[in-house]
Amino acid sequence: MPLPIVIADTPLDLVIEQLLAGKVEILPWQTALAEMRPDVAALYTYGHPLVDGAMLDRLPNLKVISNYGVGVDHIRLAEAAKRGIPVGNTPGILDGATADMGFALLLAAARRLAEGDRYARSPDFARYDPGYILGREVHASTLGVIGLGRIGRQVAKRARGFDMTVLYHNRRRDEAAEKSLGVRYAAFDELLAAADFVMLCCPLTDETRGLINAAALSKMKPTAILVNIARGPIVDTAALTEALQQRRIYGAALDVTDPEPLPRDHPLLSLDNVTIVPHLGSATEQTRTKMAEISVENLLRGLAGQPLLHLVSAAP
Ligand code: 8YV
Repeated sequence: MPLPIVIADTPLDLVIEQLLAGKVEILPWQTALAEMRPDVAALYTYGHPLVDGAMLDRLPNLKVISNYGVGVDHIRLAEAAKRGIPVGNTPGILDGATADMGFALLLAAARRLAEGDRYARSPDFARYDPGYILGREVHASTLGVIGLGRIGRQVAKRARGFDMTVLYHNRRRDEAAEKSLGVRYAAFDELLAAADFVMLCCPLTDETRGLINAAALSKMKPTAILVNIARGPIVDTAALTEALQQRRIYGAALDVTDPEPLPRDHPLLSLDNVTIVPHLGSATEQTRTKMAEISVENLLRGLAGQPLLHLVSAAP
């Protein structure tokens, strides 16, 4: 029996390759970009490649789309739903790792870790001076969480250990979380004006695209730090660059950018008040292994016509 054909944005991690060995035939992503491929049974999305209606039209016998990760903003869900193709993702296992990264970035930006690291290694560091590289206090400050979903709630939980006041903004109020986590709902503008740290934990949707634009940045305190562990396009990159260049906010810590990666000569990359990492939110050995296992299980179940472990709904 020939193996089912799966198109994936290769190269895949070795763990995934091992889990799929002998079960499917993997073809590279380019295969889905030009001609009709009625022989293809599934798509496996590893690093956010675009899946749109035109691509799905070229793959008329697709049984499943399995995404390695939670965010599916790169997959046109309504187009998949229209064609009856289930989309699977990997929720529930990466919240802790991603919230840890949120706090790592928050602390790094507040205490200027990257700058300190660069200075401590440089030939310029010849003498200790108690006056250099002063940062901002984290403990007992105010954190504004935008998007109190699974990751946002984990962030809020960590903030309690730092004696932070936590405000959140969300499409819906979450009274259960308010009680269990001691967080307070705030209107968007109120949160921006009050927070020492604004952390983006929401999905990228039509509503959140460009949410942090010049107007939003102008409402933040000049001492505030923006942390983005969600998706790059939630922030207007040009507006953020300008706000940081003009020191209208204190700093930014970014796990994600728009575009991703930024052009190597982008002005944001030369600013000292930006801490930036290359989309590492879920990047621990343990979490990435679980993501591999769940996404492969979703893929194999979809190919076998069985219910997926985690099915993404087309509704926003
Ligand atoms: C993944 C992510 O690393 O789950 C998500 O939405 O952005 C990350 O955890 C990514 O999806 C894998 O490419």
